[in-house]
Amino acid sequence: MTNQMTITFPDDWHIHLRDHDALKTTVPHAAQSFKRAIVMPNTTPPIKNRQDAEAYYARIQKHIPEGSDFQPLMTLYLTPDTTADIIEDAKASGIVHAVKLYPAGVTTNSTAGVSSLSNLYPVFEKMAEIGLPLLIHGEASDPEIDIFDRESTFIEQELKPLHTKIPTLKIVLEHITTKDAVEFVLAANNNVGATLTPQHLLFNRNSLLSGGIKPHLYCLPILKRETHRQALIEAATSGNPKFFIGTDSAPHAQSAKESSCGCAGCYSALTAISHYAEAFEHMNALDKLEAFLGHYGADFYGLPRNTEMITLVREDWTPPESYSYLENEHLIPLGAKQVLKWKVK
Ligand code: NCD
Ligand code: ZN
Repeated sequence: MTNQMTITFPDDWHIHLRDHDALKTTVPHAAQSFKRAIVMPNTTPPIKNRQDAEAYYARIQKHIPEGSDFQPLMTLYLTPDTTADIIEDAKASGIVHAVKLYPAGVTTNSTAGVSSLSNLYPVFEKMAEIGLPLLIHGEASDPEIDIFDRESTFIEQELKPLHTKIPTLKIVLEHITTKDAVEFVLAANNNVGATLTPQHLLFNRNSLLSGGIKPHLYCLPILKRETHRQALIEAATSGNPKFFIGTDSAPHAQSAKESSCGCAGCYSALTAISHYAEAFEHMNALDKLEAFLGHYGADFYGLPRNTEMITLVREDWTPPESYSYLENEHLIPLGAKQVLKWKVK
């Protein structure tokens, strides 16, 4: 039995840090777990151009702990007003590494998102030309569509046509939750990849809804049935470089999650590595963990792999019940009060 593993320092290819005072908590947590992180732009207001990204980058920098060389990789939020010039200017900044598409209204802070993809094809052509990846929250935005079918519907109606029309565009289908998404990614060319969250690898919709509703497992896209989870964990542990880490760690105050209308997002910045290790171990695939956490994402983005290492040890530990957040608020981590089997030394 493996009891200790020394692996490449992981990156996170999908994280939410929020803004301003929230950064006091979220940035040190991210820097503790990851060397680099793709920072989502769904702040209020969103990060829409080079100026926004540079200012946000500077605000994040102020909270990186001394001695840490954590690197935030910035993204732009695509809106109906995004132009090819905005994209080119952002890329020239050197700090913007991707552009995020939120179909309007699908998730937390997505009201400024996009309702019609076809109007943005000139923007996508420019991104393909300059090699800037498009990160997609892949859910249909029509509220009539069943919440469990929104990912597969989006893939059929929007994603397949987009990939066929512009096969040179690099696409990351973010936080995939279905067998349909795995099949799409496998069938697509090598410009298409996908991120997988710890919660979607470990939990299904029973975990969320059976025996009482668990607001801290509510995220979007919503957890699906077990057959989908199986397809996801098989993809993650297959050693196929198209599938890599993206925690989707998303801070929401405890009071906003434990509410009659609780908001979507799991906070996993400090527990995700342990969760991934556990998920891979269930599949007898610990030998595939390092590349998933530390190699494939960097390769996809055309960035060098990290040279520093971390050591994981088999050791039971229980994450804190909560972390303090903002003024008088708390963040409940994914895995709070549970015994996790792997610890980062
Ligand atoms: C994310 C958030 O809170 O910003 N929430 C979530 O449920 N995943 C947004 C997102 O990535 O959809
Ligand atoms: Zn997200």
